[in-house]
Amino acid sequence: MKTLLVRTHEAWLATLMAALMSKKTENKRVLTEFSDILWRHFTWIEHDLIVRGVDYDYDRENIPIKVERLGVLIADIVRRMNDLEMLLVRCEDEALKDRIRTDLEYMRYALGKLEDEEVTAFDMHRTYRDIELDKEATDALTLFLFEESYKEYELIMIYNYLQAHSDDAFLNRIFQILIDESFFHLRSFGEMMAEMGILGVPRVIHQSLYKVSDIEKFLLDGIEEEIAAKEQCKELSDAVASKSDELAKFFDFINYQENYHIELMRDAVEHFRKKQADG
Ligand SMILES: [Fe+2]
Ligand SMILES: [Fe+2]
Repeated sequence: MKTLLVRTHEAWLATLMAALMSKKTENKRVLTEFSDILWRHFTWIEHDLIVRGVDYDYDRENIPIKVERLGVLIADIVRRMNDLEMLLVRCEDEALKDRIRTDLEYMRYALGKLEDEEVTAFDMHRTYRDIELDKEATDALTLFLFEESYKEYELIMIYNYLQAHSDDAFLNRIFQILIDESFFHLRSFGEMMAEMGILGVPRVIHQSLYKVSDIEKFLLDGIEEEIAAKEQCKELSDAVASKSDELAKFFDFINYQENYHIELMRDAVEHFRKKQADG
């Protein structure tokens, strides 16, 4: 079951990356939906492990995604799904097992029907649409996208872990919002990376980041990180503002979203403190 969690994590990321690199609307739509379904499978399998008291983590193998044709990656995803189906025999929750099995069956069928397409998400041309950026702005944007896409993946996993281990409805509501928001940021940055030919899978996150013992300290550090992320967005929007109104507006938009994350996290800290005080 632990292996099933790891393999589902990998299949989810492979499918998410395939969605990001696809340029055909229908392929992108299907791959995005399927990656969301695999993400949900992941959280359900995780819940099952927690209920049965099994220790687990978010370690996984590296996921090779550099392909020239989407069909090659899709064939790899289908192979991953075959592996998942074999691992399912160890799932004791019959309802969950049936659900995942029937999902996998349909997804493999539907993936087999997708039209092949050329992939340019790794050609390193580093231009975004028809926007002309100088080398400095291009470097700043590249660095930002690499760092922040990893950060967003990290946040999804951390908040997911905290939520999975908490039965506090107030905190879980906030964790869920932060997970959804990080998904949006990860997808937005990933789309840009694919468009610029620099798409990459976020690196594996260390256990010490999500197996946190001091939630209050974690939240306070998180607020500092959000403030830093805001600063980065602001710097980037300044760096590209003279060249591209479109990019400047987009990074301001992301920046303002971080304000709300900070407020939510402050609410979480306050709630957490009150709960501790009430003992
Ligand atoms: Fe963000
Ligand atoms: Fe944020």
